[in-house]
Amino acid sequence: MTRVRIFDSPAALSRALAGHVARALAAHPAIVLGLATGRTPIPLYRELVRLHGAGRADFSRATTFNLDEFLGVGATDPRSYRAFMQTHLFDHVNLSARRIHFLNGAVGPGRGVARECDRYERAIERAGGIDLQILGLGMNGHIGFNEPARALAARTHSARLKPATRRANAPLFGNRVGAVPREALSMGMATILHARRIVLLATGSMKARSVERMIAGPVTPRLPASFLQLHRHVDIWLDRAAARNLG
Ligand code: GLP
Repeated sequence: MTRVRIFDSPAALSRALAGHVARALAAHPAIVLGLATGRTPIPLYRELVRLHGAGRADFSRATTFNLDEFLGVGATDPRSYRAFMQTHLFDHVNLSARRIHFLNGAVGPGRGVARECDRYERAIERAGGIDLQILGLGMNGHIGFNEPARALAARTHSARLKPATRRANAPLFGNRVGAVPREALSMGMATILHARRIVLLATGSMKARSVERMIAGPVTPRLPASFLQLHRHVDIWLDRAAARNLG
């Protein structure tokens, strides 16, 4: 069942969602979280860091898996999604380093990529699966780096990035679109749909059209987020701007 929650502002949404995550951590300290990058979850991470500082969010037994990483960009590269997560969350909370999982973008081509994707799938399985997956929404309806296409990959794979997605990620690369990798590693649609619960967050009017198609349109690989309609426990958290096309 898809439940839609609409908040007055991105700040109000982030506060409520951080509280929700903190309660999930309290109820289930060894929770396995799926995490997303992008501008949208930054205020959520800020709020989680604040709650942690106030003694209200304990990550000491939690495990995390991030959705995606650029291919050819290593973990210590400041432009990596891994570095993004260190800056916005990992450096400020008490997650154990060995329970933070990330796709390694620095793997060699060919077999290296296949082995890395396989390793990630197995690590998720060994952790018992993802309990709560946080997702953002690409302007073109992508989730993770599952881009609109004729067909979607089920499992973790290397994905070719659309020009619009490379433009959206340019700020990480000194605003040089040409410097954004053409490929990335990403959990696949089945990997994502296997999470027990999913919370997708979208804010701002630029996302309104994709939000409308995701919720009310057909399930189609042309809008990967529409596949969330197939999941039992999806919560879509929006601000008013992102929800403006909903009836
Ligand atoms: C990126 C990431 C996605 C993210 C999306 C939206 O390309 N791979 O996981 O959800 O873009 O980003 P933003 O929140 O900045 O709009």
